Amino acid sequence: MALILGVESSCDETSVAIVENGESVLSEKTASQINIHALYGGVVPEIASRYHLEKISILVKMVFEETKIDPKKISAIAVTYGPGLVGPLLVGLSYAKALSFALKVPLIGVNHMIGHLNAVFLFDKNIDFPCVVLMISGAHTEIVYMKSMNNFGILGKSIDDAAGEAFDKVARMLDLPYPGGPQIDKISKDGKPIYKFTKPKTVGKYDFSFSGLKTHIRYFLKDNPRAKVEDVAASFQETVSSILIEKIVKAAKAYNVRDIVIAGGVAANSAVRRKTEEVGRKNDLVFHFPPLRYCTDNASMIAAAGWHDYKAGKFADFNLNAVPNLEV
Ligand code: KG4
Ligand code: ZN
Repeated sequence: MALILGVESSCDETSVAIVENGESVLSEKTASQINIHALYGGVVPEIASRYHLEKISILVKMVFEETKIDPKKISAIAVTYGPGLVGPLLVGLSYAKALSFALKVPLIGVNHMIGHLNAVFLFDKNIDFPCVVLMISGAHTEIVYMKSMNNFGILGKSIDDAAGEAFDKVARMLDLPYPGGPQIDKISKDGKPIYKFTKPKTVGKYDFSFSGLKTHIRYFLKDNPRAKVEDVAASFQETVSSILIEKIVKAAKAYNVRDIVIAGGVAANSAVRRKTEEVGRKNDLVFHFPPLRYCTDNASMIAAAGWHDYKAGKFADFNLNAVPNLEV
């Protein structure tokens, strides 16, 4: 039996979890800073670092108390070392190193995006390999071809803004509070996708581009000051979700796979989820999502990712450093 303690602090959630054998979440405690950063319209890295520092040891104490597990019984500590904000990453990383030293248990460095991927595999045991993955978060948009859990390659990515970033930036143009993605999703329910925004045509087969769409909306809002915010949000969401689904389906067909995994914060989007139902039925494809509450940042997915490295004996030493722009 392997008990992995996961630590996540790459952005604006401090999260700690204990996961058994990469498949069962025994405890997870998360402190979100959303309300603090909402005052500034986005994440303020210095404030985020301080808040992580304030919360992390309390959360570690809470997961041990809840599970009644003796800290010395932990098999390894898995911690996010990138990508993310350098200050916030360093808080989690330094804490994990200190705990690893004190408890004499191995340290595992986890790529945050591989963590997001594991949020799906943690709860869904019916994903067949090979499969294709659409990773859509606040800073990343990638299409990945996976032969197995440890053998994968990137087919394409965004050449400018990430999908979540586009949601957040358009939300700001619409005067919606931070974080913008969930707000656009929410108000879209009261709007109709009546506006046609152009999809970028000049990017590579599996690449994405969202900055042109963002500019289109900026000019549209200038020219149409009376357009209903709900309709603009619904039209934008419709455009982005269809771009995302069209590309991942194209990849699935080209690589002849049936299973499609969608991971990251934007996997919570209701239009993305809704579209996959019909597209899946029509094309005989099976879409896999994380449970809603595991779409955004959490330590369970980091512990689950760490478990694969634990099995492979892939441990880090205390020279492990934060890598803010770590690639998949
Ligand atoms: O994966 P995540 O929690 O953090 C990163 O690793 O970046 O993703 C956060 C991103 C934000 O851009 C947020 O606006 C977006 O995911 N997001 C959504 C929704 N929920 C979160 N975007 C669209 N619709 C949602 N329901
Ligand atoms: Zn994330």
